This record gives sequence, C-alpha cells and structure tokens, in this order.
Amino acid sequence: MARSDLVKALMRSHQHGDDRAFHTAAEAIIEDERRKRHDLLADDLAAILEDPAAKRRPLQVSSLTPLPKTRDEHPLLSIVQPSVSFQDLVLSPPISEVLASIVDEFRLRSQLRAHGVQPRSTLLFVGPPGTGKSMSALAIAGELGLPVARIQLAVVVSSYLGETARNLEQIFRFLETGSWVLLFDEFDLLGRERADRSDHGELRRVVAAMLQIIDEHHADSLFIATSNHPALLDTAVWRRFDDVVEFDLPDKATRVALIRLKLRGVRHRMDITATASAMDGYSPAEIESACLNAIRLMVRRNEQTVASEHMAYGMEREEARRRASSSSPG
Ligand SMILES: Nc1ncnc2c1ncn2[C@@H]1O[C@H](COP(=O)(O)OP(=O)(O)O)[C@@H](O)[C@H]1O
Ligand SMILES: [Mg+2]
Repeated sequence: MARSDLVKALMRSHQHGDDRAFHTAAEAIIEDERRKRHDLLADDLAAILEDPAAKRRPLQVSSLTPLPKTRDEHPLLSIVQPSVSFQDLVLSPPISEVLASIVDEFRLRSQLRAHGVQPRSTLLFVGPPGTGKSMSALAIAGELGLPVARIQLAVVVSSYLGETARNLEQIFRFLETGSWVLLFDEFDLLGRERADRSDHGELRRVVAAMLQIIDEHHADSLFIATSNHPALLDTAVWRRFDDVVEFDLPDKATRVALIRLKLRGVRHRMDITATASAMDGYSPAEIESACLNAIRLMVRRNEQTVASEHMAYGMEREEARRRASSSSPG
C-alpha cells in the first residue's frame, strides 16, 4: 500500500475505534520504514505500538469486529474509551452512592449470581440537562475499565423502512463480542414519537427489543439510558429498568465543590461560598462553563489568578447564553 493510503487507513481505524485495523496499518508503516532502512524510526514506532503502559486498556474482543453499520454505511454506534472516573464528578451523596453500588454489583456479578441474584444492569438516568447524566455513564465505564458503545437511536430507526430489525440485529451481534456500557442518550425520543404517531411505534418497538435482548443476552454489559424529559416516558418504560436515578440541580455545598473542581489547577483568589450562592439554579455544566469563561478572561488579560471579577464575567456570559437559548425556538 502507498504511504498515503496507510496514513488514511490509520486515521480511519482510529475514528472507527477499530483496533485491529489500526495495528495492521501501524505495522505496515513500520515495515515500510524498515524497507527504507530507517531503522531508528522503525524501532521508535514499534516501541510506541508495544508500550506496556498503553496495554492497561483491556483488549475487547469486539475491537476485532468491524462496527455495525446501516445498509448505507452509517455507523449504528460509536465506541468511546472513557477517560473520566468518579473523581471528575461532583454529585449529591445519595446519587454518588447509587453509582458506586452499581459499579460494585457489576464487579461482584458472579458472586451475586451464585446467590441467584442479578446485578442491576439496566439504568435510567433522568434529570435536567447538564447535571452529569451522560458523564456519569462514562465515569461508570471508566471505573470498570469498559468501553462505551453509544447508540444513535435516530440512525437505528431512520434508515430504510423495515431495516430497523436488521440494524438491531447488527448491533446485538456486535455487542455480544464484548463487555460494554451501552449508552443510549436522549431516550425520550420515544415519548416524542408518541406525541406524533406518524412513525407507527417504531421507536417503542426498538426500545422494547433492546431491553429484552439486554435482559436475555448481555449479562456482562450495562445498559444506561438518559433523559432530560422524563415526563415524556410512560411508566411502562420506567418499569423496564432495574433502577432509575434522578439527577438534580446542585445545592449550595455541591456548587462549592463543583467550583473547586472546575478551578482545580488554576490559581484563584475569591470568596467561593459567595460565588456558589450567586450561582443558585446553575447546573453543573453551567458552573463549569462560567468557570471556563473566567479562566479565559484571566488569560486574555495576561493575569495569573482567577478573581471574583473574572467569575462575574463568566457568569454574565453564561446567563446571556441561557437567555438566548431559552428564547430560541425549540
Ligand atoms: N455532576 C457533575 N460534576 C462535574 N462535572 C459535570 C457534572 N455534570 C455536568 N458536568 C460537566 O458538564 C458537561 C455536560 O454534562 P452531561 O453529563 O453531558 O450532562 P447531561 O447528560 O446530564 O445533560 C460534562 O461533560 C461535565 O464537564
Ligand atoms: Mg447527556
């Protein structure tokens, strides 16, 4: 293969999370360098490829399988190797506890089964946007060392009529090759469909089929659905999950912890308690965004310390954005 094709293959394999294709391309590049008598470079590349530190990531059998795609070649899911853990999250104690217990149960699943009990493995995370639902799913996966398979519900059902069943089968054949956190964001798409009956219950069937297959075949995976609009989900859907976790806007103590976390690594001098009081009603994502704006202002001004005036600016920008989005249609 020509060098340009190898580089393309390398990048494509990365985008698709395809480890096997990545290794094939990388090895071909190393071989190519050896042929050109660039032995030092070839040795360096081989050392990078074999780096034992990188092997911490458990090898997923599934990474040897190509990603499932629709008939017109849209990937039905994307694979993420999460780089976050519980340390990156600030949650109220009851929520932290549930998340930790889920991780424990997954780790103890064989012992639980020996007692005739299944670990909780299908979860619904509900609550306002920006409260850490998706991030918690990633953090659970991070804690367990599992990759996340993120499903695009719209892609699963939007392709040609009658292809949904085939798409689902593709997804599940793929998932059977490994152990995953299967993340299903914006699960309430389901409820929106009920309001507009035009697509004949397709989404509902998809979700029912998914939950059933997970119940039956995916003992070694976790299934997490998230929704900002739980009112759109009917109780029959709620009941299908082993547990439902309600995420809340942070109280003042939690906001203090969030501000500290988001300013970690930056020098700051301000009254954090007062700032947290002023951020009443902010979601964690909004707190993060205000802190990032404050840091940006500090850097633009060539200053070294985040102070309350930077934070005031950060909050002002965040509030302007909130006003703009609440007046936007949809
Ligand atoms: N509880 C939290 N602790 C720390 N950071 C958070 C938290 N919630 C949200 N964030 C930040 O906001 C971003 C968006 O949060 P996300 O998990 O996508 O919210 P949701 O899925 O509830 O809408 C996250 O990537 C993270 O940077
Ligand atoms: Mg989300």
